[in-house]
Amino acid sequence: VMPKLKVIFDTDPGVDDAMALLLLARHPEVDLVGVTTCFGNGAIETTTRNALYLKQLFGFAAPVAKGAGVPLGDTVASEPPTFVHGDNGLGNIPIPEVTETADPRPAAQLIIDLVRANPHDVTIIAVGRMTNLAEAIAQDPGIVPLVKAVSVMGGAFGRNGHSGNVTPVAEANIIGDPVAADIVFGADWPMTIVGLDVTHESVMTDDYVKDLAAHGGKDGAFLWEVSRFYANFYTSTRQFLNGFAVHDSSAVAAALHPEFFTYERGPVRVVADGIARGQTILRPEGHYDRATDWDGRPSCNVAVSVDAKAFLAFYRDTIVNGAR
Ligand code: BDR
Ligand code: CA
Repeated sequence: VMPKLKVIFDTDPGVDDAMALLLLARHPEVDLVGVTTCFGNGAIETTTRNALYLKQLFGFAAPVAKGAGVPLGDTVASEPPTFVHGDNGLGNIPIPEVTETADPRPAAQLIIDLVRANPHDVTIIAVGRMTNLAEAIAQDPGIVPLVKAVSVMGGAFGRNGHSGNVTPVAEANIIGDPVAADIVFGADWPMTIVGLDVTHESVMTDDYVKDLAAHGGKDGAFLWEVSRFYANFYTSTRQFLNGFAVHDSSAVAAALHPEFFTYERGPVRVVADGIARGQTILRPEGHYDRATDWDGRPSCNVAVSVDAKAFLAFYRDTIVNGAR
């Protein structure tokens, strides 16, 4: 038998984070070894409470460690987008008492410990601000060559007519901590970046989620409940006529099924300040220009197209086959 893929999930749950975490928890070839939280879709207390609730609900064993509450070099976090993910970060579904407790280690330390304990074996899937990853690199740069692969949901590269979702050029996970993102994209580990260019190409309609609810047992019912507020944000802002974009699960899919996507390769920089703050800029390999700011940086795989049909079928099959 093939060994399972060991995964650390760095997340800010978050409706689509919860949907991606369920995908990881139910995938038969995934060994979820750690979940680390970051501020983002809620304050750090909220996203950590939500991750612990999801651990209890989904029944996975991996430790949950609390991470950064503010971006690198900052003392305050951005206002949580309650109009997207609800006041409680999980689409305002009722959250019962949470009995699971967090790992005593800070998120960055858990990442370091897991990578050191499983050299060349851990894939990091990061779907929030990348503050924890940047802190882990700063505390122990030796982990970088020991990580098997990193798959990130973040950024917007202007392909397929898609642009930013916070500003015309910036995506939420990147503008939330552009300094951290630039460090993480500059580290020499196998990096795949899944931005809005592809996540806005995969849409879960009401019919799609109803089918999950009908065939996915208790998990399917949860997916329907947790996504109602989120779906309403997308339709009421007229981004989609019906349904919502599939952000964080796309980064999971890229780690497990890279063939669902096509990629451009090259070093990526993140704009730290000014009106383009949070913009992600790819210099495609072989591109002629005279800028030096991309020089010496490793190439990343930037997803530029997706087989949305195959990806959505994969999500459905994993949930339905693994349903509890
Ligand atoms: C990203 O921002 C968050 O709101 C989502 O969870 C996703 O990770 C999309 O821009
Ligand atoms: Ca997220």
